[in-house]
Amino acid sequence: MQKKIKIIEKGQGISNDQQATINILGIETSCDETAAAVVADGRIVKSSVIASQNKLHEKYGGVVPEIASRAHIEQIYPVISEAMEQAKITQDEIDAIAVANQPGLTVALIIGVTAAKTLSFAWDKPLIAIDHLHAHMQSAILSEANINLPAVALIVSGGHTSLYDYKSPLEPKLLGCTIDDAAGEAFDKVAAILKLPYPGGPAIEKIAKKGNPEAIKFPRSMLGKDSLDFSFSGIKTAVLYYCRGQDMKGENKVDSMSEKQIADIAASFQAAVVDVLVEKTKLAAEKTGAETVLLGGGVAANTKLRDKLQKMCNELRTAAKLFTAAKQYCTDNAVMVASLAYHKYKAGVFADLTVEPKAHSE
Ligand code: KG4
Ligand code: ZN
Repeated sequence: MQKKIKIIEKGQGISNDQQATINILGIETSCDETAAAVVADGRIVKSSVIASQNKLHEKYGGVVPEIASRAHIEQIYPVISEAMEQAKITQDEIDAIAVANQPGLTVALIIGVTAAKTLSFAWDKPLIAIDHLHAHMQSAILSEANINLPAVALIVSGGHTSLYDYKSPLEPKLLGCTIDDAAGEAFDKVAAILKLPYPGGPAIEKIAKKGNPEAIKFPRSMLGKDSLDFSFSGIKTAVLYYCRGQDMKGENKVDSMSEKQIADIAASFQAAVVDVLVEKTKLAAEKTGAETVLLGGGVAANTKLRDKLQKMCNELRTAAKLFTAAKQYCTDNAVMVASLAYHKYKAGVFADLTVEPKAHSE
């Protein structure tokens, strides 16, 4: 297709009638995945390449920032080249470079940000800075042109657990977040206690299928009737006490437990976390009168969470429609970065070469 617009001035948006196909190269390095993708018009995925570092962090039971940073340096060039190759696209056909610059591990983010700034300068393309959590929201509605508003979004990942009042792709407003551990972090830590592999979420979900979710009554921390914040450190400690005894002096019983006993702990833990996530999302949806609920982030891959949230949405007074990220876009990827960047591109919201990685969202 012949492009009507080749170059646009920074800070200047484009209207729909002027619009040609817009190809955006997205880059993501906020935690332990090095990812690049080319997405056309925010919805057509031309390529998606992800180099996971799970194997490197496995033995530590969590992400080691220095190891992540070094692996991003090694992977960033091959991953971007592969994304361009798979998309069968040349640099001339790319309209903008987008990068997740916050929140995340700054030593990891800086690799993607530096690569994006370099390409923006060398290829003379506009640069778009993306909030990683806003991108997770976008992953729930990649193929949707329009959704009914008001909407709330639940983003549950290894580093974050947040609820948003979603007004548009560019204006999500934070309603509440975790005051300690993120939900995914709790899955990872409990998996380590149960001596299950890293990352913990998929491992707990798998073994929980063989367990009884009502076997053990783990605490559901609600932080007050009206609170939209989360706390997951208590449940992690409850699992630890269950396995080691209240004084932590007993031997770790996990070694002598049967598979069924471990499955019961995993299923009961998962049920408690899912209950809290669903209850809080219900409260947010009721408060805002939401007609739509979005679910994204690594923990959104969890089937029990998806099912219970669907049931809750059906029962809401507004019978809200639930949009859940496709499983391959729940965990970190660059498709969600490039897709959200399209909305910023249309609105003319660009960054410049002074953009920096930030540990927290602005
Ligand atoms: O979004 P993500 O890839 O990275 C961050 O931005 O943090 O999320 C990774 C997190 C990990 O904590 C992992 O254990 C969790 O998502 N996770 C799951 C499942 N798959 C991944 N948690 C529960 N159930 C799953 N099926
Ligand atoms: Zn993430």
